[in-house]
Amino acid sequence: MKVVTDARQLPSACAFVPTMGALHAGHASLFSLAKKYSDDVVASIFINPLQFENKEDLAQYPRTPDIDIAIADAAGVTHLWLPTQAEIYPDGYVKKSAGPLGEIYEGKARPGHFDGVLTVVHQFFSLLKPKVAIFGEKDFQQLQLIRTIAEGIEIVAAPTIREVDGLALSSRNVRLSDEGRNAAQVIYRALTKAKSENELREILASESSLTVDYADFIDEKTFAHAQSDTRKVRAIVAGWINGVRLIDNMPMGNRA
Ligand code: PAF
Repeated sequence: MKVVTDARQLPSACAFVPTMGALHAGHASLFSLAKKYSDDVVASIFINPLQFENKEDLAQYPRTPDIDIAIADAAGVTHLWLPTQAEIYPDGYVKKSAGPLGEIYEGKARPGHFDGVLTVVHQFFSLLKPKVAIFGEKDFQQLQLIRTIAEGIEIVAAPTIREVDGLALSSRNVRLSDEGRNAAQVIYRALTKAKSENELREILASESSLTVDYADFIDEKTFAHAQSDTRKVRAIVAGWINGVRLIDNMPMGNRA
């Protein structure tokens, strides 16, 4: 695996997996999926300050460079891109706006977050010009928003990787206490058992250490509340345990 800091040393028309590091098995699954699309698998590690709405969260974001290099190498990444701030944000860089879809759900809880995500992904795409880019379905709103700026790049959704008890893998999980980690199981239980939004909320409410932000059935495309005639419904959940924000989602099946 080559480690580079300059996009000009990278193969374009590659399969690309952008990350912010703190890599885990979820990222490794994205890298493996990328290999199906190209022999050249480029992964980036860049902690994007623009998508953190508070400085504390940015400072607390886990940084594990040695483990990251080992995981990327073992999972078949051919080029690891560690861009500098100056490369990604030169003077006069283009700022993207996520629009109304960027202001609801995760965007409401984290104002400006999706503008920051789209801005950095747009910069990555312009510098690298990949053929395919892979994003985890766990960040479902992010995935749908990135599709809006893809401009000829194929966006591939990678399934969520879970712990044995169903908790979606996330770099934030390490910040949970043992009790919090246990309590977090309720999210998967609710998503897999609920047949309605009410049921989803009831199951989540049974866990007192979870503070629910939202638990909704939505239209996958528009993120509007699902109606009886919505074809693709997805349940989306966000909440806090021990001050750690957890999100997850699941398709509720196609309807007639
Ligand atoms: O999902 C992430 O890790 C980040 O939002 C991304 C896509 C790498 C942009 O910084």
